[in-house]
Amino acid sequence: MSHYFINDDSVKSEEKVTKAMIHKELFTFWTDNNVFSKSGLDFGTRTLLESIDVSHMKGKVLDFGCGYGPIGIFLGRHNLEVDMIDINERALRLAKKNALVNQAHVSIFESNLYENVKDSYDYIITNPPIRVGKKVLYEILIGAKEHLKENGQLIFVIHKDQGAKSVLRDMEEYYQVEILQKNKGFYVIACKTH
Ligand SMILES: C[S@@+](CC[C@H](N)C(=O)[O-])C[C@H]1O[C@@H](n2cnc3c(N)ncnc32)[C@H](O)[C@@H]1O
Repeated sequence: MSHYFINDDSVKSEEKVTKAMIHKELFTFWTDNNVFSKSGLDFGTRTLLESIDVSHMKGKVLDFGCGYGPIGIFLGRHNLEVDMIDINERALRLAKKNALVNQAHVSIFESNLYENVKDSYDYIITNPPIRVGKKVLYEILIGAKEHLKENGQLIFVIHKDQGAKSVLRDMEEYYQVEILQKNKGFYVIACKTH
């Protein structure tokens, strides 16, 4: 079985176009097989985007695990400087296409975890991969600290069936933690450096 986070060009490409309204703005997103949520904007990602107030955000953002690009592209349309990374090459190709289609000025590059991330950010925002397992998930969440500026924030979404409550507890060891939103089992969690 192929996973969306594994590069596998044997999975036939069948690009399709989807539309999503986010905060009253219409976006066009091309998706494909072997890319997360190929049928269109994931409900967890939507919950994450709807729980943040972009008008109060400024500075530099990293979209970790950008997939076909909804988080970074939405933020890139709002005067934020956005970098987007993923390990999946097909997702990166789609994210670049979607950035053009939606006129978002963002920078998109390949990175396994933070390997090619050289900058520091005001925000790291992610709908993180869960199927990679707890060890890698925690490398993403705790590792974010090394790439956040002072007073920077990691914001992520996770479902209660994916262990939201225990992840929340564990993050309290590393960050000042706040629940921004709970919707249909999805928790949007903000982790501030202190
Ligand atoms: C749950 S998906 C979210 C995709 C997209 N942000 C969205 O909301 O639709 C998680 C993403 O993390 C990527 N990913 C998995 N392991 C990774 C790793 N080690 N380094 C970078 N990205 C990774 C996957 O390829 C996938 O695109």
